[in-house]
Parts: sequence; C-alpha cells; structure tokens
Amino acid sequence: MTTAQLILLDHGVALAGVASWFGAGVAAALRRHRLGLGLLVGAVLVTLVRVATVSVLAGRGWWFVAEKALLGLPLLCVAGTAAVVIAGPGLWAARRTSGERLPASCAVSLLTAACAALAGLVVTFAAGYPLTWPTALITVSSVAACALLTARAMTGEAQDEKQDEEQRAEPDRRSALTRRRFVNTAVGVAALGAGGTGAVLMSGSTDSVVTGGGPAHPSGSGTALSVADLRGPGKPSPDGAVRRHVLTAKTATVRLDSGREIDAWTYDGRLPGPALTATEGDVIEVTLRNDDIDDGVTLHWHGYDVACGEDGVPGLTQHAVGPGEEFVYRFRADQVGTYWYHTHEASDPGVRKGLYGTLVVTPREARRTDQDGGGRERLDLTLPVHTFAGAVVVGDRDGRAGHTAAPGTAVRLRLVNTDSDPHRVALSGTSFRVAAVDGRDLNRPGPVREVSLRLPAGGRYDLVFVMPDTAVALVLDDDREKGVWLRPGDAGHEPRTEDTSGWPELDLLRYGTPARLPFDPDTADREFTLVLDRAVAMVDGRPSYAQAVNGLGHPSIPDLLVAEGDVVRFTVVNRSLETHPWHLHGHPVLILSRDGSRCSGSPLWMDTFDVRPGEVWEVAFKADNPGIWMNHCHNLPHAEQGMMLHVSYDGVTTPFADGHAGHG
Ligand code: C2O
Ligand code: CU
Repeated sequence: MTTAQLILLDHGVALAGVASWFGAGVAAALRRHRLGLGLLVGAVLVTLVRVATVSVLAGRGWWFVAEKALLGLPLLCVAGTAAVVIAGPGLWAARRTSGERLPASCAVSLLTAACAALAGLVVTFAAGYPLTWPTALITVSSVAACALLTARAMTGEAQDEKQDEEQRAEPDRRSALTRRRFVNTAVGVAALGAGGTGAVLMSGSTDSVVTGGGPAHPSGSGTALSVADLRGPGKPSPDGAVRRHVLTAKTATVRLDSGREIDAWTYDGRLPGPALTATEGDVIEVTLRNDDIDDGVTLHWHGYDVACGEDGVPGLTQHAVGPGEEFVYRFRADQVGTYWYHTHEASDPGVRKGLYGTLVVTPREARRTDQDGGGRERLDLTLPVHTFAGAVVVGDRDGRAGHTAAPGTAVRLRLVNTDSDPHRVALSGTSFRVAAVDGRDLNRPGPVREVSLRLPAGGRYDLVFVMPDTAVALVLDDDREKGVWLRPGDAGHEPRTEDTSGWPELDLLRYGTPARLPFDPDTADREFTLVLDRAVAMVDGRPSYAQAVNGLGHPSIPDLLVAEGDVVRFTVVNRSLETHPWHLHGHPVLILSRDGSRCSGSPLWMDTFDVRPGEVWEVAFKADNPGIWMNHCHNLPHAEQGMMLHVSYDGVTTPFADGHAGHG
C-alpha cells in the first residue's frame, strides 16, 4: 500500500471512529441501549484498527503520525477506556430493555470519547506537523471543556425531568439556573477556543531563521552584502555576443489557431512570450517594460542560476515593475539547455494568464554526440505546454501541431511545463532517449520505448531520437487528438497513434548511468526538513487554511540559513493529498532518494521535483551562488497560499523587502 493510500485509509478509520463514538453516545442518551451497546463495541474495534493504521503509517515516517501518536490516539484511548468502564456495564445490563434511564455519566463518557476522536481529527487537519505545546494544551482543554459542557447539559436535563415528574415548585428558577450554567460553560469553551486559535497562530512567529545544524554566523565577517549588488557579469565570453531584447508586458486578446480568443497577460502581446535563444557564453540583456499590468511584473529565469540580483523576485531581489516602469536584466548564458522565464509578481494569476516564455541556450561547439542521433539534418523544437481555460496549448497551438522531418533527421523535442499541474508525456512511433532533465544532460541515457513521462510543473525534458521512416506522435495526457505529429516527409500520411494510457511511467531515478558527483552529499554541512501539508496558519498577515511548510505559512516560515561552500541537504515530506512540485531558485538540486530508495541511475539534477502525496524526497545542493533565494511550491496557487520560504546566505541582505517578499 502506498503511503498516500495509508494516509487516506487512516483518515477514513478516524472518521468512522468519530461516527461510532458519537452514535454510541447519542443512542445511550436516547435510551436505545441495545443500539448503544452495539455502537460501543464498534467504536472500540474501530479504535483498535486505528492503532494499527497509525502504527503502519509511523513506519513510513514520523512526520506522517507525530500528532496522532503523541496526542490524538492517547487522548482517544484514555477517553475511550473511561467510556467502556463507565458506560459498558450499564449498557450491557440494560441491553434487553429500552427507555429505562441509565445514569447521565453513561452518555457523557461516550460523548467525551467522541469529542476526543473528533479533536484528534481536527488537530491532524488544522495543525498537522509538527505538534506544538499550544496545540496540545488547547486540544486537551477543549476535550475537557466538551466533557464538562455535556455533563452539565445532561444532568440539567435529568434534573428538569425529575422536577417535571416529582414537583412543580419554582420550576422557572431551576431551569433558569441550568440555562445560565449552560451559557456560562459555552462562553468559557468559546473563549478557550478563540484564545487557543490565536495562540496557535501566534506560535507561528517564532524564529526568523533556522540553521539546519550549521553555525549561525559562519563567515563572521560582519560585512553585509546586498542582493542589489549581486548583478550579472557584463561581458560575453571572447567569441560570444550580447543579445538584447525588450519585452513589454501588456494585456492583449490573443487568437489561438483554433480561432479561440484568450484575454491574456502577455510579453509583447504574444502567447507564449518571445522565444529567447542564445549561444553558450553570450550575454543576455533583457529590458522589461510594463505597459498596463496593474499588479506589476518581473522576469524570473526559471532554472537559470543567474546572480541573485537578476532573479526577478519582487520584494526580495527587486521591486515589482509597475505600469510605465522598466528593469534591465543582464546575465551570461553559461548554462546550456532548456529553461523558461515567467513573472514572479502576481505569478498566480500572471503565469496562468500568459506571462511566460522559453529560454534555450545551445552549446558553442555544436556537439554531435550519439545522443543527438548523429543525423545530418536536425529538427530542434521548443514546446512549452500551457493550459488556457481548460485547453492545452503546445507552443502557440491549441490544436494539433504538425512538422515534417526526413527519415534520419536528429530530432530534439524540448518540453516545458508552464502549468501548475503535471503533464503526462508519451512518444509513440519511435524509441527515444531523455537527453536532459531541467536543462542538465543525463549521463548515458538509454533508449526507451512505450513508456510515459511525468513532467512536473515548471519542469523540462529534452527528448531525442532519430526520425524513422514512419510518423511519430507526441501525446500529452493520453489525449490522442492533441499534441505534436512528425511526418517523415509526405504530409499525406497520418500517424497511427496508439493508446498510451496503459504505458508505464519511466522512473528517472533509475534511468541512465551513475557518474562521479561534484560533492559528497553524505557529509552535508546543513540539513533541513520541510513537511508540506495544509494547516491553519498566517499568510501575509491573515489567518487562513494555508498550504503550509512545517505548519507555517509565508512569510512566517523561518529562512533556511546557509553559508557559501556548504553542502546542504533537504528532506521534503508530503503529508497532504496534493502534489507539490518543489522548486529552488539559483541552484539545481541533486536527487538523492525517494521514499528511502536511492537514485541508482544517472546523477539527476532538477530545479523542480514533484513530491507526490505521501512521498519523501532527499535532495542536496552546493551553496555556490550567494543571495537570498526563493524555495517554493511551483503549483503557483499553493505558493500564493503560503507554501514558500527563503534559503538565505549568511551576510546577504535585501533593500527591497516589503513584508510579503517573493509574492507568488
Ligand atoms: Cu518558476 Cu519561483 O519560480
Ligand atoms: Cu504545492
């Protein structure tokens, strides 16, 4: 069973527990003793099953069960045992009768167990990992208050009844008293709850940095370096050129090839924005202007390890570019491969509405390796995949795109996922190699066939093959009507597209051949753990049901402190039932393991890796690019809902902080 299935099963069992404890309590209160007894037996069994599911889940990692094992289950076990001892004998004795009154303590104890079961579930969904003292104290006192409240209400009721039966003297005063007691208790519980929620939210703003086991001020020099001074090199390599571009951000109505019109936010009125290309060693200089995007825009070079001041993060590396303003980015294209750019201000909805484009840097010496097929002709297609209002657009086409390539042509398809969700990619009609992932070449990738690939949000794959003398189809999300068709010359032949939905997924952690690593990830200087889940947390000053990291939302999540030269290890845990494409700016990360099994193929460098529900990824990087860098979920609505933080180098400061740095 996968961890995600276990998490789901455990939620189900927990819910069944709440229902059966409540059912038993209500049945007892209604004097349906036989039913109450049955539900009590059921509740006990469900609780025992729960102990089992939590134990199995604990085997997958403590992060998945901490609050259940330390708080939810113990609380339930105590309350449940008390309920069995208090209510069990009475219900058993009265099982053949109904309507006869049992002591109020019977129903009260059962309802208290139900409260405890419910409280555990609430803690799991509202607080998650890690469990904090305020959460534990609030939970225990809430359950106690709940027990008290139920007891008062039930004894009050019993007294009222007794009164009705026995005498009618001063009935008003007595029931008024009961009511007052009830109101007092309710107010108390409400105040406790409100105070508790406040305390939980306040407990969010503790440390502003965590050091991951490394020293707090390793450099100790005391001289601060501003990101404003960390700007890209001005000179190209000896035989390189300066490539100048002006990109103007503006709203536009763009017509797709199907005739469909999109109200878009664009760079230069185009969807996608202009395809930027360069040769290794060139200097890329882009002047960004903003015509009429009121939210402001920037350019972030996704996956490109520019100097921090060129990274395009508003409130961190620059101010957002407002209407009528401009900003000039300049960096040397030393990294070869497939990348993309997008706005980092209002990135949700900006990127979704069209503020993105591709960046491809080709080697200066056109290398003809066997990976490229060695063919004489070349076809090199850059294919950003984006969804506009439900329609998948590849490049600038929302229908099927067609190309011809003579048999023997060396084809390279550069796939870029500019969406917030993953895409499933399949290539039918040929075997192929995955030459590069996120712009970085793999080591000796072997040919594969009839496999699919999962392309994370923000990720890129370069697929290479030699054009056969039959047609080839790139199929996206198993939709045979869409995608890209390549024909071997005569446009008359339609490719025969296969059903790709049953094809297994290629596991990139087992693909290609191992090679020497540039650093030893097993002797890391710092280690950080990021547990991703939903939780009640502050996001930008407002309480919300956030996409949280370690129970906190941006900007309350402490910065991860590193020093130049450090080897940094991350453990990223997904406790939620959604996929989180985890993205680090300024550095590629080396994938070490997923769910405890080590990467056994080519060294795999990624800037965005999909952490699926229940998965645990270990990655490492070398801190060799000083700055303050965003580290966030590339499902951009998630980032907006709190799932982002900073990796900050010791001694680096920003003059651009505006309280919600790096927004989306
Ligand atoms: Cu492509 Cu911070 O993102
Ligand atoms: Cu996410």
